[in-house]
Amino acid sequence: MKTRLLTGHDIPAAAAILREGGLLGIPTETVYGLGADGLNAEAVRHIFEAKGRPQDNPLILHIPNASWLSRYCHDVPASAYALAERFWPGPLTMILPRREIVPDAVTCGLDTVGVRCPDHPVTLEIIRAAAVPVAAPSGNRSGRPSPTCARHMLEDMEDRIDAIVDGGPCGVGVESTIIDLTVTPPRLLRPGGLPLEELEEVLGEITVDKAVLSPLAAGEKPRAPGMKYRHYAPKAPVTVVTGPGEGTARYIRERAGEHTGVICFDEFAEAFPNCVVEPIGSYADKAEQARRVFEALRAFDGTAVTAIYAQCPGDAGLGLAVANRLKKAAGFQIVDIGEDGI
Ligand code: TXA
Ligand code: MG
Repeated sequence: MKTRLLTGHDIPAAAAILREGGLLGIPTETVYGLGADGLNAEAVRHIFEAKGRPQDNPLILHIPNASWLSRYCHDVPASAYALAERFWPGPLTMILPRREIVPDAVTCGLDTVGVRCPDHPVTLEIIRAAAVPVAAPSGNRSGRPSPTCARHMLEDMEDRIDAIVDGGPCGVGVESTIIDLTVTPPRLLRPGGLPLEELEEVLGEITVDKAVLSPLAAGEKPRAPGMKYRHYAPKAPVTVVTGPGEGTARYIRERAGEHTGVICFDEFAEAFPNCVVEPIGSYADKAEQARRVFEALRAFDGTAVTAIYAQCPGDAGLGLAVANRLKKAAGFQIVDIGEDGI
């Protein structure tokens, strides 16, 4: 099929694709998603085919506001409504007990479902016009960095889906934060565009799932099935270097050559003269790092780079999500140079 490019002026055409069981690229504030009617199991199965996604990795349902929660979830706790009130529309996915109406194709047979209300006017309008919840994973081929603009999504999905709605570049740039509200205390399954600290203000104590910070042991089962896959990976192997900026820059420079790719903070963009350099924003600007990290991970493919080093922000605020994406892209190949450097 030929993939059409639509804009925010084509809401009826976009909604019709969803209603007819087609596949639609949708802009959100986090990353572009690959959407289908979340109540149509056949359409949802096509998402897995188009992405090459493993069959055990469930999808998130996108809804236009919190009043739809009770259609697809039961025993919705007061905390879910409190979070929705404060953070929706926005980069937060809640895991809740699912109702029978949600097809197994969406949840991969789990008795829970992830739900979020995206903060993008075009996509909210499309969902309302289609009048169905939209099941949508990130719009990349499985294992690739998530797309943060329509062009990146087209790179991965051209001729595999009906259309992509171009809603401009994504303002947040990393996927939503996922919180499991079916357990006590609530559990952070994926750090994302909403910082953990802001969730803690509403929920109090939160457990951070082990898969967020470290690789899983062989045979270990993550609570968010998607966390077990190597992800976001460029073709060349990535090494993440943690520690202060000066020290990590020195460590990388000593090992870098002509065919080395470097993801670095803007302050160090000139520090690697012979390398292919992708700056992702200044050291202190984690929101900018979040917006640029996936584009940087995509940029090395198609170059002669054979190894990639990345400077890594600390875990506060959006740093937890940026660091998690870099570490996953590296398959948790991490060098920590310590506070004083090596
Ligand atoms: O920002 C986002 O969340 C984007 C945009 C498009 O909304 N979507 C996204 O979807 O990142 P995806 O499929 O790439 O990541 C969803 C993650 C996966 O790791 C999946 O395993 C987990 O959510 N997940 C989905 N349903 C779940 C459930 N019921 N229990 C635990 N984890 C779940
Ligand atoms: Mg994804």
